[in-house]
Amino acid sequence: MGLLSVLCVVLVHALGVFAIGQPASLAFSETVGGLKLAGTGSAPTIVIDASDWKGVTRTGNDLANDFGLVTGTKAKVVTSTSGLSGPVIIAGTIGKSAVIDSLVSAGKIDVSSIKGQWESFTSKLVKNPADGISSALVLAGSDKRGTIYALYDISEQIGVSPWYWWADVPPKKKTAIYALPTTKKQGPPSIKYRGLFINDEQPALTNWVKSNYNGVYNSAFHAKVFELLLRLRANYFWPAMWASKFYTDDTKNGPLADEMGIVMGTSHTEPMARADKEKVKPWDWKSNESNLKKYMQDGLTRAKNWETLWTLGMRGDGDAASPTLDSKSIVDVITYQQSILKAQFGTVEAAKVPQMWCVYKEVGGYYQSGISIPDDVTILWSDDNSGNIQRLPIPKEMQRAGNAGVYYHFDYVGDPRNYKWINTIQLSKTWEQMHLAWQKNATNIWIVNIGDLKPLELPISHFLDMAYDMSQFTTPASTDPWLKAWATREFGEKVAGGTAEAMATYGKLIVRRKYELLNVTPFLYSTTNYDEAENVLNEWASLQDRAQALYDTLDETTQIAFFEMVLHPIMAGKIVQQVYINAARNKAYGTQKRMSANKLADDVKAAYAQDAVVQKRYHGLLNGKWNHMMDQLHFGYDNWQDPSSNSMPSVSTIGTTAPSTGLLGVSVQNSAASSPGDAAPTLTAMDPWTPENRTIDIYARGSGSMDFTVTPSADYIKVSPSSGTVSYPSGTSDIRATIIVDWSSAPKGSSNTSISIKPKTGTEVKLSLPLNNVAVPANFKGYVESNGAVAMEMNGYTSRTAGTDSSSLEVIPNYGRTDSGLTLHPSTVSTQTTASGAKAVYSFYTFSSATSAKVTVYQPPTFNINPDSPLKFAIALDTGTPTTVSPCPKSTLGAMPSDWHDSVVNGARVSTVTLGKVEPGKHELSLWLLEPGTVVHRLVVDLGGVKSSYLGPPESSRVGFSS
Ligand SMILES: *[C@@H]1O[C@H](CO)[C@@H](O)[C@H](O)[C@H]1NC(C)=O
Ligand SMILES: *[C@@H]1O[C@H](CO)[C@@H](O)[C@H](O)[C@H]1NC(C)=O
Ligand SMILES: *[C@@H]1O[C@H](CO)[C@@H](O)[C@H](O)[C@H]1NC(C)=O
Ligand SMILES: *[C@@H]1O[C@H](CO)[C@@H](O)[C@H](O)[C@H]1NC(C)=O
Repeated sequence: MGLLSVLCVVLVHALGVFAIGQPASLAFSETVGGLKLAGTGSAPTIVIDASDWKGVTRTGNDLANDFGLVTGTKAKVVTSTSGLSGPVIIAGTIGKSAVIDSLVSAGKIDVSSIKGQWESFTSKLVKNPADGISSALVLAGSDKRGTIYALYDISEQIGVSPWYWWADVPPKKKTAIYALPTTKKQGPPSIKYRGLFINDEQPALTNWVKSNYNGVYNSAFHAKVFELLLRLRANYFWPAMWASKFYTDDTKNGPLADEMGIVMGTSHTEPMARADKEKVKPWDWKSNESNLKKYMQDGLTRAKNWETLWTLGMRGDGDAASPTLDSKSIVDVITYQQSILKAQFGTVEAAKVPQMWCVYKEVGGYYQSGISIPDDVTILWSDDNSGNIQRLPIPKEMQRAGNAGVYYHFDYVGDPRNYKWINTIQLSKTWEQMHLAWQKNATNIWIVNIGDLKPLELPISHFLDMAYDMSQFTTPASTDPWLKAWATREFGEKVAGGTAEAMATYGKLIVRRKYELLNVTPFLYSTTNYDEAENVLNEWASLQDRAQALYDTLDETTQIAFFEMVLHPIMAGKIVQQVYINAARNKAYGTQKRMSANKLADDVKAAYAQDAVVQKRYHGLLNGKWNHMMDQLHFGYDNWQDPSSNSMPSVSTIGTTAPSTGLLGVSVQNSAASSPGDAAPTLTAMDPWTPENRTIDIYARGSGSMDFTVTPSADYIKVSPSSGTVSYPSGTSDIRATIIVDWSSAPKGSSNTSISIKPKTGTEVKLSLPLNNVAVPANFKGYVESNGAVAMEMNGYTSRTAGTDSSSLEVIPNYGRTDSGLTLHPSTVSTQTTASGAKAVYSFYTFSSATSAKVTVYQPPTFNINPDSPLKFAIALDTGTPTTVSPCPKSTLGAMPSDWHDSVVNGARVSTVTLGKVEPGKHELSLWLLEPGTVVHRLVVDLGGVKSSYLGPPESSRVGFSS
């Protein structure tokens, strides 16, 4: 620790103060008018009135401890200013702290901007706040959590990450800490109730709780969770419920939440602060109403003195629909629940008695039938369990006193398959959906299912930072800067840019397909066309290399945190991709009698074994602190539920006897043929705009060794290498030769050439290679066709026009499966038309003529959040009439759109629009997004040359763009 601490000091000086996205009130070097609060061997005294909230004092103690973590000297917490000397922090809640109230009445602090506000605070460096104190940092909270957030804000600024314990982020050592002569204000938060749901907590978290808390989700466990929530400026929690009963497993759980400042809730299937496992049987409103009522009343009685957000309504047993409940009886249930709340609290006003009804799964059907839900009840809309919000408030629902909220998922057990192993969240997608929720006024509650909590640190931080202060996230480009700020806080400035880039890339790679859904036949990535399978694996490998290089620059303590939150998901994720991709390649190579199929089989086995090694490495961190957190099985799913054990996909080996057609085999891209034997394929044509390298694979098809030469038919074609030796089992079994054309010497227009691969003995393979030496006009800006395809990413537009209502089409960087998304912004605008709406133009240049061209539009699998105005876009070629498409099939609440399964599995909804005849030359594709929430993340024009693949052809060449 000693040497490492010194390293940290050096690192951190460059950093400056940090509380993500919020203004600074501290500095680490002397500032004019500033107050030195702490240094090596010195710490402030923290004054918290004895009559303030217990949770405030508790947080004051945490802050005192945090000073010790960063300076080596713990601060002291006292209840009065009398007799103090040295640096002082005075913290308290308006109306609960005599010292704060006296500073207000003496005019030393101005709390008018926060008084009466929800969870707000102000901080100020105050001169002569009390006798004998020349200056003090004063933190005044509008309410209990306002003050708690003010104290943890200081913790975060001095260098203690909210994740210091849960993800082992080392405190950043400081030699001096100064309070700046500034005033700052934070709050109220954008979302009133912001929280997490620990769910699907077996096996990982439950096994970990067995090791660390005697198997009980007890108050010691919850103290850790609640502290994390408060440090992340959250306030709301749904406890684990698969096998536990929060209020009775440990009777200290309820009072602890209230004392610390956590608003307790229960999941959608657990009304009135009761646990699922406490349910009376039969759990049936129709036959057992009086006992169900008693159950609910008992929940109210038990939690009535603690801050609670009451879950109303009911569902059936075991997270399923109740067979006897309908849209009439659900109203009876809610009426009863409100009646007992009213009897208890004298009111059911939303502002005084927070209540919610979660429109989850079948519950949507009740809502759809038009029942009237009391105005004070927050309607908690749900996503589809896969990150796509099903419904948001429509105009007539926006004025409800109880407003609305969103229940979201970062983890799920159910269709299409569980995802509960490691992080699979694309942050820009979370931004897009939650920003939409914010703009549609679903701002009373945001709660997210976070599985075992632990491997989802990054998406949790992101979600809660948005919920706290959405003003930091108003633009579609806000995710990457946030990610960089997050990486700076956790790992330091030096690696922040690289880490942000790595995790943005991770989001794109993982949104393509969740790990549990990779074992499908036929395999999703093409092993033939566009080298797709291989390229995807290369992207993962390159990502892992970059993450490893960042890791290698860090000190040992920071490496642990970096491993948990960045390197592990990338490394473990890459292994799963490697296992499935190379198993698919093993099959394809086996068919070609390619001996390297055997090497791929070995590689799959090695990668599969490596998975266990990486799991063990995680479990061994810090002497087993996180043992069991990676217990989740993740190989070999065959339905939505976990498999009973991990299993490796099958691989096969091939014999070493060469086919009668010879040892040396030749294969090329976009063809499964192996020649000689199979007819020699024609290479896919090359032109100066071909986005991928054109290559030839030359390989051994049996045991032995063979020299070969490669000879092009023209001197403007070079092949590298032009000769070599393939050999098996020792030596190089496969050689990939790249074709390079000197276009300045090649004949203009179309020509036919060939490349001959001649083994020293045996049959020569002569591959035809068509060339198209074509040019685009000098002033052209846009994409260029190659081989009958134009693949365009959304940031490759050539022009954009704003709508007459000032709406615009904006790029969401690092969104979707390949590059970026395009969204209609802001999403508060109304339905657009092609006449007046915002438009983006994608230019492209073609050489071939097509009689029936089409464009494939890739979009996220999002929902018609407003059923009266379904998602909609329009697209037009050149001056043609726009074609309007509503891509998401209509569905009723409580049911999924008909294309849901496939589009969620694929991370994309794919629509095809006919363009008709396209002549060679310059073209413009105009795109309008006609409803808020409509996002497009790729456009592929098919002039007849698009080959089948999962992601589409590689992005076409762009010309004329300045950067
Ligand atoms: C109602 O629930 C209670 C408590 O579980 C049970 O004892 C009783 O038998 C049930 N009554 C009916 C009519 O099913
Ligand atoms: C959304 O909420 C804000 C703040 O409560 C309110 O001013 C606005 O009118 C609401 N929007 C609509 C469309 O109702
Ligand atoms: C194409 O080949 C060149 C030269 O070997 C290499 O630098 C480049 O990265 C390759 N491009 C792709 C897309 O593989
Ligand atoms: C190239 O060969 C193909 C196939 O034999 C033929 O259809 C085409 O006309 C040839 N092109 C030229 C420019 O000779």
